[in-house]
Amino acid sequence: MDENRNPFNPGAGVSPPELAGRAEVMQQAMTALERTRRGRHAKSLLVLGLSGVGKTVLLNEIARQAGERGYLTEMVEAQDSGDLRQMLLHSVRRILLRQDGGKQAVEAVKKGLRVLRSFLGGITVSAGGVDITLGVDPEIGQADSGVLEADVTDLLLATGRAALAVQKPVALLIDELQYISKEELAALIRAIHAVNQAGLPLILFGAGLPQLAGQAGDAKSYAERLFEFPRLDRLNEADACAAIQQPVEDEGARIERAAVQEIFRQSHGYPYFLQEWGYNAWNACDGDLIRLADVQAATAISLRKLDASFFRVRFDRLTPGEREYMRALAGLGTESQRSSDVAAKMGRKASSVAPIRDSLIKKGMLYAPEHGMIAFTVPLFDAFMCREMP
Ligand SMILES: Nc1ncnc2c1ncn2[C@@H]1O[C@H](COP(=O)(O)OP(=O)(O)O)[C@@H](O)[C@H]1O
Ligand SMILES: [Mg+2]
Repeated sequence: MDENRNPFNPGAGVSPPELAGRAEVMQQAMTALERTRRGRHAKSLLVLGLSGVGKTVLLNEIARQAGERGYLTEMVEAQDSGDLRQMLLHSVRRILLRQDGGKQAVEAVKKGLRVLRSFLGGITVSAGGVDITLGVDPEIGQADSGVLEADVTDLLLATGRAALAVQKPVALLIDELQYISKEELAALIRAIHAVNQAGLPLILFGAGLPQLAGQAGDAKSYAERLFEFPRLDRLNEADACAAIQQPVEDEGARIERAAVQEIFRQSHGYPYFLQEWGYNAWNACDGDLIRLADVQAATAISLRKLDASFFRVRFDRLTPGEREYMRALAGLGTESQRSSDVAAKMGRKASSVAPIRDSLIKKGMLYAPEHGMIAFTVPLFDAFMCREMP
């Protein structure tokens, strides 16, 4: 069918035509937004899930809906080598500059800017090649201690107070939160805790790999009571079928039941793969009815594309030792395996391969579904490993 009308969107952070199977977590987020707006206590959400399950598009959707509800929103992505100070500096600056209101309110915003100026401290920061000037003096004694935790807390409190004064709640969204260091995570959690206690209309939505829950707990033991940790996973059959069928029908085309089921079987309901298969099946189809044969053609194309890009970039990031570990795991089957069995397959002691296993978890390639077990984060990666290293 006409490629220009193809509704599917395989990629990173690009919205699917149908956000299937996420009604519950969206509802949770909307309740948190509504309560925060009313100055009521609400837990911030840290959305967990493996890569490609749809965390980023979910955060985008939350940001969009927050905007519709009168929120000022800022979304940032933490980087591997990033710096929380820089990240907050830019987002808080943009928020404060967008806050306007009555006379009294302006004072709270100005104070926010002065606290931000203190937070800036000695570091020169540039945005788009231009040094940032805030046009205000620092607020002495606020956000200038040099202690990250105290300074981030001062900054977010000042931002929350400004939000209250101008009656515009703030939603801060941070993607890839697993990348920030323990000290930074502790500072962020402490600051959100203080904002909550003060009943200020500022809420955090984070997203990250599953290990983020543990990282948050290690950084601050009370994190589990401060946050909800909704878990995104592969879609079940009904949701996956809706994710395929609905967009096709919205374009005035049709898809056979057997074709939808085959897409589910091949993709394992994994959101990224659903888009990839849907996209290729659409293009492979001649009439306006997508048939099983079109999906079978799409499978060959999808696997070729994944091998050349999605799987390839992940594979390229691995050290030889890590590749060997991944290959041994793949050789044991598609299910999760005991770590000790993987070590045995490599002919090594479990303790000697533990560092490799840990670094693969850190890179988001593997995860531990339960203690002592190990599994691929991405479906079909095992088959790729066997193709790549026969
Ligand atoms: N609920 C969903 N239903 C269908 N497709 C989805 C859904 N969520 C995400 N996708 C698709 O999956 C792919 C990956 O989404 P993304 O948000 O980048 O994942 P993550 O941030 O978890 O790595 C995108 O192509 C997106 O369109
Ligand atoms: Mg993402």
